[in-house]
Amino acid sequence: MGVSSGLRRNIPPAPLFFERGDGPYFFDVDGHKLLDYTLGWGPLILGNNHPAINAAVRDQLSRGYTFGAQHRGEIELAELLAGLLPGVERVMFSNTGTEAIQAAIRLARAFTGRSKIMKFEGHYHGWLNNVLVSYRVKPSDACQPLSNCGGQPHAEFSETMVLPWNDVSALETAFHNFPQEIACVITEPLLVNGGGCLPSSGYLDALVQLCRQHGAVSIFDEVITGFRIALGGAREYFGVEPDLSVYAKALAGGFTLSAVGGRAAAFSTLDDGRTIHAGTYNGSPINLAAAIATINELSRPGVYDQMHRCGISIREAIEREATTNGLPLVTVGLGSVFSVHFGLAEAPRTYRDVLAVDAPRYERFRLALLNEGIYLLPDARWYIGAMHGETELEFTLQAIHRAMRQVSN
Ligand SMILES: Cc1ncc(COP(=O)(O)O)c(C=O)c1O
Repeated sequence: MGVSSGLRRNIPPAPLFFERGDGPYFFDVDGHKLLDYTLGWGPLILGNNHPAINAAVRDQLSRGYTFGAQHRGEIELAELLAGLLPGVERVMFSNTGTEAIQAAIRLARAFTGRSKIMKFEGHYHGWLNNVLVSYRVKPSDACQPLSNCGGQPHAEFSETMVLPWNDVSALETAFHNFPQEIACVITEPLLVNGGGCLPSSGYLDALVQLCRQHGAVSIFDEVITGFRIALGGAREYFGVEPDLSVYAKALAGGFTLSAVGGRAAAFSTLDDGRTIHAGTYNGSPINLAAAIATINELSRPGVYDQMHRCGISIREAIEREATTNGLPLVTVGLGSVFSVHFGLAEAPRTYRDVLAVDAPRYERFRLALLNEGIYLLPDARWYIGAMHGETELEFTLQAIHRAMRQVSN
């Protein structure tokens, strides 16, 4: 099939092959230079070939690839994370978001002695069977746990409950109906992967409080929002502190690293051996060096303001050009990540609202921008990085103007 992830399959006009990346640009094997807003599906928050990341990785390369044992980088990064992420007292490292989500769920189950996990329709938490449930649904589907691909035996998600998002009373009812059974509630704090959708005012706080009240562990999946909507992610942006949060993508600027962080109590099950966390590559020194360099760069004054300003300018231009061309459209997101929804007159409140988007028109818009030299994800999600400057912004605004005209009929 020629692709390493099924999600990269069948992306028109054809899955592109790349030769190199530099700053905000990708160079494909046919010689095209493309301005990139995919950021490798999120991680490249500083772009490719960043001098500080390169230097940190090069330095670590000469000191060892992997130890399978403890090293200074683990302590340095753990302390950095605990200092930056509000309410995070302890962390543990894995490689991918998928893995770290499972590690968080295991901690929650060991800590509570319960087995049910609660997730929300439209939310993606990696590709494993217990969470790849009701990620994509049809309008005619009932809100219940549904498998999303072949090879998912029902037994492997029989302990997974699914609820509509942004609905406090649905959560209250579930806790009422399953007392002492729910180990954790897991949510993206801002729905990004399943289509841009903001949490209603007070919703995240209510979710965390309900979990506390009912003895369940609250888990924020910050694989996308972490180090992106703010340096301290959703914890900082929304001022809400769940028991656990999961980080990946932007954490290591393009290198393979994920982390679970949260209240010390939730990690006590590792200390006393009630559960384990394992992995040959956990805490890989090279990837940790990349993460420390990435976070140091992101900590410079003004970095988030600049990314957010760039995101807002692009969103405003897309909305303005759509209005000029008589097309209903909303953009939804925060700062440097947003989704472009053709066909919606107002921002969606939950995943079901996103199902009404005019996806074919977005696809035409994406292809028109590709012809202008702008590379985008197929699912209407845009990522801005710290390396997108004024030149890139100007180029993008002009391309948006022409592309919107092309898709207006
Ligand atoms: C919100 C969210 N959670 C978890 C994951 C899984 O992370 P990974 O692809 O690193 O396994 C993703 C990946 O896109 C994601 O967007």
